[in-house]
Amino acid sequence: TTESTRELLLSRIRDIPDYPKPGVLFKDITPLLADPAAFAALTDTLAELCVRHGATKVVGLEARGFILAAPVAVRAGLGFVPVRKAGKLPGATLSQAYELEYGTAEIEIHAGDLSADDRIMVIDDVLATGGTAEASLELIRRAGAEVAGVAVLMELGFLDGRARLEQGLADAPLEAL
Ligand code: PRP
Repeated sequence: TTESTRELLLSRIRDIPDYPKPGVLFKDITPLLADPAAFAALTDTLAELCVRHGATKVVGLEARGFILAAPVAVRAGLGFVPVRKAGKLPGATLSQAYELEYGTAEIEIHAGDLSADDRIMVIDDVLATGGTAEASLELIRRAGAEVAGVAVLMELGFLDGRARLEQGLADAPLEAL
């Protein structure tokens, strides 16, 4: 990411204190999405990463990951595959449960959307604890595909999601813009 792109993207992310609960500083990307130059710069940067790391498909994580991953897939000339919260995909799915701060969550993918020839770039807006991304890497592995990397707009470094992804990524990169 060039310094000017980084500055543009940062300037369009809005901090919302005490959302969704007291003590949490929410990173709101809607100003970025509403700015066509910033959204295009983000899309182009992520698409370049997909090409550089030899991705054959882009996986987006519901819901904000969809907004970023879909235009990236089109821009990079790659297919888009959704990872959805449990119960939303109509076909034969693989499911993966993972730990949240309190309780568990479950995400799913259409097993038939990935093949052994695929190298997958996972795209999301934020890497926080890394639970969601880690579970998505597990789904990709179980579907028999290879992981090209994980690319996010923001990494909340103090939550150490990067360490949680180490095993799932193996030697693949985690790119945080
Ligand atoms: C947020 C964010 C990531 C995930 C990161 O999604 O978009 O997908 O949490 O958190 P983690 O690294 O601790 O797993 P959220 O579940 O709020 O869903 P949304 O995109 O549907 O709002």
